[in-house]
Amino acid sequence: MGLLKIARMGHPVLLQETDAIEMPVSENVRRLAADMVETMHDAMGVGLAAPQVHQALRMFVYHVPAERNLGMGIAPRIMINPEIVPDGEGIMECEEGCLSIPGLRGLVPRYSRVRYHAAGLDGEIIAGIAEGFHANVLQHEFDHLNGILYPMRMTDFSRLGFVEELRRYPWERRA
Ligand code: NI
Repeated sequence: MGLLKIARMGHPVLLQETDAIEMPVSENVRRLAADMVETMHDAMGVGLAAPQVHQALRMFVYHVPAERNLGMGIAPRIMINPEIVPDGEGIMECEEGCLSIPGLRGLVPRYSRVRYHAAGLDGEIIAGIAEGFHANVLQHEFDHLNGILYPMRMTDFSRLGFVEELRRYPWERRA
């Protein structure tokens, strides 16, 4: 186990296409997944995708804190070769940050409901429907597997800011 170095925006690995992971997973993938969970927690993130730790592979880890999901937290999950598709056409605006873009947050339009399907480390199927913050995290992490960072999804760059300034001047208090 160990902490991994996180790639920052500008590093080409974040824009790269990623390769599907062969099942059953190798010991290397198993170790990578464990290290990614540890790195995510250490960095106080809610999600981390393999390209963010310099591995162009189709895997991400995430968790949902209870306070972000009506008291129903989701313990850390490892998603291998995931598929995320919109469920309906509803759109929500999400305030996002990214461990690869430290210090910034931006407002990003996302689908309000998605269906997800992935394999776990032991080949088990992880599937369901997600809404709200959970749906937000899944779409953000899935984008990383396709070389997409959240600013590339933004439609209004006036809604990009430094965390410290946004704390001092929340959007809702602006004119
Ligand atoms: Ni990210």
